[in-house]
Order: sequence, then C-alpha cells, then structure tokens
Amino acid sequence: MNRGLSRRTLLAGSASLAVAPLARAFPEIMIRGRVKPVVISSGNGNSFKNGGTETCVQKAFRLMTSGTDVLDSLIEGVNILELDPDETSVGYGGIPNAEGVVQLDSCCMHGPKKWAGGVAGLEGIRTPSKIAREVASQTDHHLLVGKGAQDFARSLGYTIEPDLNTERSRKVWLEWKRRTDKEHYLDPKQRETKGLEVALQMSEEGYLERQHVYGTINCDGINEKGEICGVTTTSGLAFKIPGRVGDSPILGAGLYVDGEVGAAGSTGRGEANLYNLCSYLIVEELRRGKHPKDAGMEALKRVAKNTVEKRLLNEVGHPNFGLQFYVLDAKGRHAGLTLSGGANYAVCDENGARMEHCESLF
Ligand code: GLY
Repeated sequence: MNRGLSRRTLLAGSASLAVAPLARAFPEIMIRGRVKPVVISSGNGNSFKNGGTETCVQKAFRLMTSGTDVLDSLIEGVNILELDPDETSVGYGGIPNAEGVVQLDSCCMHGPKKWAGGVAGLEGIRTPSKIAREVASQTDHHLLVGKGAQDFARSLGYTIEPDLNTERSRKVWLEWKRRTDKEHYLDPKQRETKGLEVALQMSEEGYLERQHVYGTINCDGINEKGEICGVTTTSGLAFKIPGRVGDSPILGAGLYVDGEVGAAGSTGRGEANLYNLCSYLIVEELRRGKHPKDAGMEALKRVAKNTVEKRLLNEVGHPNFGLQFYVLDAKGRHAGLTLSGGANYAVCDENGARMEHCESLF
C-alpha cells in the first residue's frame, strides 16, 4: 500500500473513479439535480409587475429554469422594475438627484464566466442593468461612469432619452426642492441633514415609500447546474448631490458573486455598505463555511461597529438607517438580513414566489 495515501483517500478516489465514466456518458444526469434552482431578491422583486403578469423573481426563475443563462434571466427580471414608473427607486421614474436629474447605477456578476460590469451616474437609459452587462461582456473594464457610460451605450445602439422623470418623480422632486432649498445650495452640512430630514418627512406624508429613499433591487440566482449570478440596480439615494454614487454599482459592495461560493447583494444606505464592502465580506464568510444567515450577520455587526458618528445613531446607540443583505450560497441556501426592524425578501423556487422574513441584528 502506498504509505502516502490513507484508506479514506483511497476509498474517495475509487468512488470518484467509478463516477467518472458515468459522468462522461451522461453529463446531464450527473449534473442535473445538484442544486435546487432558486432566485432571491429584495422585497420589491416580488411586488412590481409593470402591468404584466410576472414579478422579477417569477420571470427570472421561469427563464432560468427553461435554460436561459442565469445572468440574462436575472436582468430580464430586474428590467420589470427598471421600466415600471411606479417603482420610484429603480430605473425609469426613479427619484432624481438634487437637480432633478435621474442618475442610475447598476452592476452585475456572472459566476461561471467570471464576468463583472457596472455603470454609475448613467443618465438617459431606463435599464442600466443591461448596460452593466454590456460592460461585462464587451469591454476589458468593470465600471463606466457618467457621460462615458452613456456614450458607450449610445455606441452600442441604445437610444438616449432626454429625461427619465415620470410625472410622479418630478412632482416629488419639486416638492422636495420647495421645502429644502429656495436658493438651492445651502451650506453643505445643513443641506445634508435637511435634505434627508425632508425626504423622510415626505415619505411619512405619502409622497414616496420610505424604503425608496435608498431603494434598490438586488437579485441573485442559481440554476440546477449550480451556476450563480447576481445583479443590482438603483436610482440611488433620493435627491442625492449630483454625481453621488452609492454601493449599488460597486463590486464587493452592492454585489459580489463567486461562482464557486455564492452571491451577496444589498439595499439601503449605500455609504454604510461602501465603508465596509459587505458583499465581499459576506461571500468570504460563505467561503469559510458559514450559512448565508450567519455570513450576513457578520456584515451587519461590522456595519454596527463602524457606525460611530452621532448623527447616524439612534437614542439607544444603534445605527438609525436601513441596510439589508440578500445572500445565496452554492448549495442554494439563502437568507435576507436587515439591521433592524422588520423586512422581507423575495424568493422564487419550485414552490413558487413568496416573501420570506429577513433576520434582524437589532
Ligand atoms: N443602496 C443604494 C444607494 O445607496 O445608492
């Protein structure tokens, strides 16, 4: 007996030798059934239909399980929200920046192909997720911003629209402007506090949903072959300083995918996520063997630990903002997590689409 090989190694080796010819003869059979396909997303992924019959997670799951590429399926799914004028935190009709201009951010990652692409501050195109995919598939780069991103899209034949506001988003912006800044540009500190205060007040009065102040969609999926992809798309912080970019288009922050390990993405206060690069952190925790719930919890704890400024803390010393993570591992296990309060995330699998409860740190 070869002294270097243990009995266990030999047994494992002989098992794989027996499996190998079968796998060669029937690759589909050997691969099929390895993972139960599932698509997860932030809660809005099971709320909006843009006048159609399916939500984002339903459409993505249907396409993915009919053989469409996982990333293409997810992007078709999030396109529903990007195009829906009633979804005021993503794509067309997203709440504009402080100057009334809709600027969109998105990124995507393809696990098996090791593709990644993103766009930030993109104006004039309703579906930034499609352009993020073009960056991933057609360039040697991972992130295009502003006019460069728009010129790139135009060069590929996308039509640039002069304005992505809807009647609703424009009305909300005009009201915000009227309340915050008669001359526009106050002292930057005053403006930052006042701007958010007014946006939250307006959400209480029904102008926009509170979760849409930082609203976004992240959507991740795994097919039966175990192929994992993800996409995140947003109009970013409502009434942001023009040019402000949050976490959504940044690889490792708004989204991270490792094809062998899992995917993580986020919605909520982008600055808190950017500081901690939570999606990357979560995927690394998955790599160490953590369950998606525990991996996401690690990131929430990191955010809480690194939130020290008084203006960002509530009366009991916890972060006073919202932040959520959506986590999917290579076994198809998933979790949604939120810093505090109640939140749901969307799931679609063989049992259909539903909302599941997010685990909360506080
Ligand atoms: N998470 C979206 C943003 O902060 O822009």
